[in-house]
Amino acid sequence: MSALTKPAAIHWVDGSQEEYDALCQQLVDGGTFIKLNQKLWPGCFYSRSDASDVARVEDRTFICSLSKDGAGPTNNWVNPQEMRRKLKELFNGSMKGRTMYVLPFSMGPVGGPMSQIGVQLTDSPYAVVNMRIMARIGVEVFKEIDKGDKRVVPCVHSVGAPLSAGQKDVPWPSNKEKYIVHFPETREIWSYGSGYGGNALLGKKCFALRIASNIARDEGWMAEHMLIVGVESPQGEKTYVAAAFPSACGKTNFAMLIPPAGFEGWKVFTVGDDIAWIKPNANGRLHAINPEAGFFGVAPGTSAKTNPNAMATLAKNTIFTNVALTPEGGVWWEGMTDEPPAECIDWQGNRWTPAIAKETGAKAAHPNSRFTAPASQCPTIDPDWEKPEGVPISAFIFGGRRATTMPLVYQAFSWSSGVYTGATMGSEMTAAAAGTIGKVRRDPMAMLPFCGYHMGDYFRHWIKMQKGLSETPRIFHVNWFRKDAAGKFIWPGFSDNMRVLKWIVDRVRGRALGRETPIGWTPHYEDIHWKGLDFPKDKFDELQNFDAAAWKQEVIGHEELFLDLHDHLPKEMIYERELLICRL
Ligand code: GTP
Ligand code: SPV
Ligand code: MN
Repeated sequence: MSALTKPAAIHWVDGSQEEYDALCQQLVDGGTFIKLNQKLWPGCFYSRSDASDVARVEDRTFICSLSKDGAGPTNNWVNPQEMRRKLKELFNGSMKGRTMYVLPFSMGPVGGPMSQIGVQLTDSPYAVVNMRIMARIGVEVFKEIDKGDKRVVPCVHSVGAPLSAGQKDVPWPSNKEKYIVHFPETREIWSYGSGYGGNALLGKKCFALRIASNIARDEGWMAEHMLIVGVESPQGEKTYVAAAFPSACGKTNFAMLIPPAGFEGWKVFTVGDDIAWIKPNANGRLHAINPEAGFFGVAPGTSAKTNPNAMATLAKNTIFTNVALTPEGGVWWEGMTDEPPAECIDWQGNRWTPAIAKETGAKAAHPNSRFTAPASQCPTIDPDWEKPEGVPISAFIFGGRRATTMPLVYQAFSWSSGVYTGATMGSEMTAAAAGTIGKVRRDPMAMLPFCGYHMGDYFRHWIKMQKGLSETPRIFHVNWFRKDAAGKFIWPGFSDNMRVLKWIVDRVRGRALGRETPIGWTPHYEDIHWKGLDFPKDKFDELQNFDAAAWKQEVIGHEELFLDLHDHLPKEMIYERELLICRL
């Protein structure tokens, strides 16, 4: 790769603190990082991306399987030979004038039975320091590779901005042309042109979801876009659940939930906030690990009120990207405090004041601005979060951002109806990807941008996974985002989501009642623990309301996706659809 990309130097990443500090200093010297006020934000750095490089680029993301059918209609496909030719052109000399970092990383605890190894070659020191927070990296991973018995996924990343002799670098090098490419059969990742998030931290979406979903299908496990939480009752009974919500739909918040007033003695522990690798153990029970070591969380909306755990996690040793910079050398974003700062520098480097915002609508922080923070700093991190064999999973929760139609919560009748529920999930699009915001799109299992093979085969894999289990996790659907006629959220959300989580745990444990409806089991008003919240029954009824006409439209929406996938759909999906229509 060095012969192809022609870097000026090669740096083997050892992962040490000294190396991290030196790289951060180098980023400060080069203008990519600003060191925040260390009294307010110890160990924290601030960074602004190029205005054209702010989110994942789904239309520039490719699954180059040998056959087009292997990638399926929901992925962009290019013939792998053709793509390799193109990539050789793009990467030819792409690292000129820069250092190539050789960054070994382990997704999951080093040496763990569910863990996987990759090596990312990158010309972005920003990617290196972020990866040091997000994954286990460095010498211990080289040692693991040297044992010689593990697969190593080769990943190459270039921002696509070579420097000629004497050319001055910019704070955020990137290229207008972007290619995020996966070769599923050979388990390879090639990323070109972007330095941001999932485009550049290749252990995350590229490896832990797109490539891992292929490995998982072949090996009989699951790679999912899911948070993992543990719920402990006052009696000390611990129940772990995993939940798939699309990007920027509340996984980080739910993963760090703090039970509200009225839940004395209940505790919620965080295992992961974005990705779960799930595998049956020797006894046929699904166990999950969080393959990551940090959180790459959405900043806007995160506050001491909505997510105090996240605020504590990001208080030190955190990298902020595309939030606003305050005159004191601190950070701010929309929703962080009730009162905005009198002035700050916005994510594009311009002066920002509340008056300017009012006049122009300018946001101080980009809606997809993020913090990169070590998971170990989370006050509620689960004692077993790094357990190599994972934690037992008792329930799966699916949920999107839906202003209408979808009730607060329902439980699917069975595994196959639950798979149907996840497969047909819809959500309004968010700023996490470039594209239309607010439009409802089908996002099966929150994996639409992340499944590295044919979505119909992915549903088959879900169906198949249950057959070998000694205990079947129950499947639920939630929606925190239903709105009333005035366009306001009906449900308070955040910590009050505990009330829903408790019903889910109680259902799993066989303790709570439910009411049979055409879409699944729903709680009666009395089945929810209301202590500490004044939420009248008529509002609950509005929240849970089953609207037959809206559901008719919903099922037609399912059909649109299924038409595209029909020749790979498992029969169960066809029959579940028929059953749903009959019940409706
Ligand atoms: P990715 O990291 O992109 O995969 O997303 P995520 O699912 O982790 O998203 P995150 O938890 O950061 O959610 C982002 C947005 O959802 C923020 O704007 C939150 O304020 C909002 N949000 C989270 N939980 C709730 C809730 O219960 N109710 C409401 N109304 N908004 C919520
Ligand atoms: C998402 O978009 O689902 C994320 C952020 O978690 S990124 O890593 O950029 O994909
Ligand atoms: Mn995500």
